[in-house]
Amino acid sequence: MLVLGIEGTAWNLSASVVDENDVIVQVSDQYVPSSGGIHPREAAQHHSSKISGVLKKVFNSVDPESIDGVAFSIGPGMGPCLRVVATAGRAISLALDVPLVGVNHCVAHIEAGMWKTDAVDPVILYASGGNSQVISRRGNYYRVFGETLDIGIGNALDKLGREMGLSHPGGPKIEKLAREGKRYHSLPYSVKGMDFSFSGLVTSAKTLLQKGIKREDLCFSFQETAFSMLVEVTERAMAYLDKDEVLLVGGVGANSRLRQMLSVMCSDRSARFHCPPDHLMGDNGAMIAHTGMKMLTHGLKTDIESSKVKPDYRVDEVEIPW
Ligand code: ATP
Ligand code: FE2
Repeated sequence: MLVLGIEGTAWNLSASVVDENDVIVQVSDQYVPSSGGIHPREAAQHHSSKISGVLKKVFNSVDPESIDGVAFSIGPGMGPCLRVVATAGRAISLALDVPLVGVNHCVAHIEAGMWKTDAVDPVILYASGGNSQVISRRGNYYRVFGETLDIGIGNALDKLGREMGLSHPGGPKIEKLAREGKRYHSLPYSVKGMDFSFSGLVTSAKTLLQKGIKREDLCFSFQETAFSMLVEVTERAMAYLDKDEVLLVGGVGANSRLRQMLSVMCSDRSARFHCPPDHLMGDNGAMIAHTGMKMLTHGLKTDIESSKVKPDYRVDEVEIPW
């Protein structure tokens, strides 16, 4: 079975064809803001101007007639971006006369991790730009046990990056600077019950920056504080739920310090730590295609009439039949 997946909830327009076992082809084209953070309308314009080129490249590698289904990211994400992707998905599904399926972007991050690691029943740390959640499967749903009360960890890193004059996305650049940091400056550590928040941390970091502390030390202190919050809640979820595995997913999962902290915590608890390969970590078409394939093989498809995008779609709204 071959499924085409189209992702474009925010910065990365990406289309991919997968079969049951692997990614056959993946073509991506990233929107880079001219200044500041992601502008939804600009990102949507990027996606609409690039989507035909991206799909042509995919169809250079895979004969469109061999596709058995079309999956697209239906939400959550930026409305204007989602609409571009949904329009393309509907058009291809109609043209090829194959079923269409709208995929929840967060479920797709998780399923990509479940596909390409040995994880069986993990606590999932989903750390990306717009989302930061501690999740685990209970029955037929992914349940959220803790989450950010304000912004996602990736957005927090990107905001700090902008304050420091770094171009978007700031996350990877902050990781590099943090490696050279030595001195820890205290920043607000904000875990409330099983939830956490990052905007106060960003504000305090800005103040320290204005005071002129070394950028490397600031990035180091920021990462240590924010990631400790994520690791604490992940560990508590493992204890409460009696789980002995962690799966890290989402764009911020590329960060090697976050991976290291989670793997130390896991080895202290004799637990296993998993994270998918890099090409499935940040937003990508293959995770949408793979999840779409699972949905289609379980009889789930999306009629054109009910394929309206869902900018606020949550991970715990999706019934998981597999
Ligand atoms: P979502 O809708 O899942 O929130 P997203 O649009 O944020 O997705 P992702 O690709 O999942 O997209 O995540 C992008 C985020 O990951 C950005 O905020 C970016 O700064 C961050 N990021 C990428 N690489 C790193 C890294 N090495 N260290 C820290 N953050 C990183
Ligand atoms: Fe994402």
